[in-house]
Amino acid sequence: MNFQQILATVADDFAAVDHFIIHHLDSRVPLIMQVGNYLVEGGGKRLRPLVCLLAARATGYQGDQHISAAAIIEMLHTATLIHDDVVDESDLRRGRATVNSAWNNATAVLVGDFLISRAFQLIVSLKSQAISEIMSDSTCIIAEGEVLQLINQRDPETTESRYMDVIYGKTAQLFAAATETGAVLGDAQFREAMKNYALHFGAAFQIIDDVMDYTSSAEVMGKNVGDDLAEGKPTLPLIQAMKVATTEDADIIRKAIKTGGLEHLERIICLVQETGALEYCHQRAVEESDLAVAALAPLPNSVYKEALEGLAKLALNRVS
Ligand code: IPE
Ligand code: IPE
Ligand code: MG
Ligand code: MG
Repeated sequence: MNFQQILATVADDFAAVDHFIIHHLDSRVPLIMQVGNYLVEGGGKRLRPLVCLLAARATGYQGDQHISAAAIIEMLHTATLIHDDVVDESDLRRGRATVNSAWNNATAVLVGDFLISRAFQLIVSLKSQAISEIMSDSTCIIAEGEVLQLINQRDPETTESRYMDVIYGKTAQLFAAATETGAVLGDAQFREAMKNYALHFGAAFQIIDDVMDYTSSAEVMGKNVGDDLAEGKPTLPLIQAMKVATTEDADIIRKAIKTGGLEHLERIICLVQETGALEYCHQRAVEESDLAVAALAPLPNSVYKEALEGLAKLALNRVS
């Protein structure tokens, strides 16, 4: 299935999610509304709500609470991105200026807080102990993932295992919250399967994101190239390149991670290519994507299950 075909399986629900988000961003404070509208206009791929909707349908759900659950997940996602861009000092997201860049850091931190708080108001209104637990546990794990990443920052000794720990937390966990919530609504016997699917899907998704930071362009990706290196982030392309490069070349990377900055970006882009580190990352992403598909085995066959399989494969070839 291509992305359009996947979307088509839940097209009505998908449109309803957007409606729900816009409708629930209201506030008596104009600045919050202004930033909120700016974010909604910016769009985004809406992948987390998509997997939430698909998980609910794939596990037999017939009601409409999956719409609010999916919208809440996207609000949490948006809040983490607003905060992430402050921490990463990023200026471009979804092809436009980030909130910290268009306004300032204080606005981004506080409006991000508002979004998280609003999301939790809405979670409470779902009146489901299981969903409340999933979402509150996940937001803690995501925050831990971002802090773990902060600890690894500028540390060239970061191992692949520490990197995986970070991405399972900061990225995969929210996908897992989305699909596990879907299964709670549909049929809870599939919770574990849906969660495992999303953890592996999310890991593949983030590995490819980290590759794109060295191979893509701002026009295609909607984010600036080299943001990770600028921040001294030891992502998988660099970890692997250091492992196989000559001592001299590995030293260049090591120093660049330690100091941050883009001074050696060109050279490092060459190194991740020459050392085969990018292929290695792709291979690791394929493994994660395969594990995601395998996790779906217990689910009954349906067009929604096929769509989830399709997404896991598309994550490998995405360009934005
Ligand atoms: C960005 O996620 C953050 C990562 C986990 C890499 P997306 O690439 O899903 O962002 P949007 O929502 O489509 O902008
Ligand atoms: C993703 O991390 C942010 C979260 C999952 C909270 P990155 O910092 O790698 O994502 P981008 O590249 O800014 O989207
Ligand atoms: Mg970032
Ligand atoms: Mg990134």
